Amino acid sequence: MVFNDIVIIVKKEISKVKNLKDLNILRVKYLGKKGYITKKFMLIKNFSKKERINKSFIYNKQKEEIKNIIIKRKKEIEIEQYNNNKFLNQSIDVSLPGKYIPPGTEHPITSIIYEIEKFFQNIGFKIITGPEIEDVYHNFDALNISKYHPTRTEQDTFWLDKNVLLRTQTSNVQIRIMKHNKPPIKILTSGKVYRHDYDSSHTPMFHQVEGLFIDKNVTFIDLKSILILFLNFFFGKKYKIRFRPSYFPFTEPSLEIDIFNNKKKWIEILGAGIVSSYVLKNIGINHNKYCGFAFGLGIERLAMLRYNIDDIRLFYENDIRFLKQFRFNKFL
Ligand code: DAH
Repeated sequence: MVFNDIVIIVKKEISKVKNLKDLNILRVKYLGKKGYITKKFMLIKNFSKKERINKSFIYNKQKEEIKNIIIKRKKEIEIEQYNNNKFLNQSIDVSLPGKYIPPGTEHPITSIIYEIEKFFQNIGFKIITGPEIEDVYHNFDALNISKYHPTRTEQDTFWLDKNVLLRTQTSNVQIRIMKHNKPPIKILTSGKVYRHDYDSSHTPMFHQVEGLFIDKNVTFIDLKSILILFLNFFFGKKYKIRFRPSYFPFTEPSLEIDIFNNKKKWIEILGAGIVSSYVLKNIGINHNKYCGFAFGLGIERLAMLRYNIDDIRLFYENDIRFLKQFRFNKFL
């Protein structure tokens, strides 16, 4: 028999096999202990050495081929069976109500950020973003923060490298935007900032919104009116606010705004001021021609005041009972 004859016969036989049981019978017939190939090997001893080598080569090849044909057919039968049985044991009751999967909602901090962005967008501010991993120049140096300022120490700032850190404030974006754009500049940016702090009013990560407006003839009155407008919009005139003179290295003059909360305490919510001529000069903006204001506010502070929350950590503990309260869409 020539080498391929037996393989052709097996192929023919196997094409008629329709189930795994018959396939196994066929396997035993050819590859089993008393099967065709095994018998052939047993007879080999009667031949000369040269023929033995020749024959064992041929039988091994045949064995291999038959094995592969069987494996291939086995897969085909399995797929056929799967397809035939797929819907056999299923009965679908199309009238059953679906399982209710409650939809997730925006985190309250995200909602507030969107709300604030919308307000400022409506009065002409462009929304931009900036990096959370920042270098010393943009986070401190260009903002006129002295080399010896305590915020630069390891107790306050998360340093990644000698020159690289997690930004401690969104004011870094002021520098980035002024470096690459000519006035008028009117932007708002928001995002995460990082500081070494952890207690009921501080988390190591929190959010700030930062505004910057640089143009000809921008005044302190513009700053004050925009901030009052914004706070009235956000709190609905519910709270008393006060402006307090303050100090920031990158604004001159500087101010802070406090809000009188329901526990009759003044709570600081934002810092602002006229952008220091030192910063403008450094960045290459003509401070005799242009001026402007900047402000930065803590989102968690605003949220805590608005919703009477007294521990900031609640925002980040992922307690569904807490977060659920901010699902304002009643239909969900
Ligand atoms: N970056 C300040 C902080 O994190 C807040 C701030 C104050 C931002 C004054 C400003 C500003 O833009 O003008 O405490």
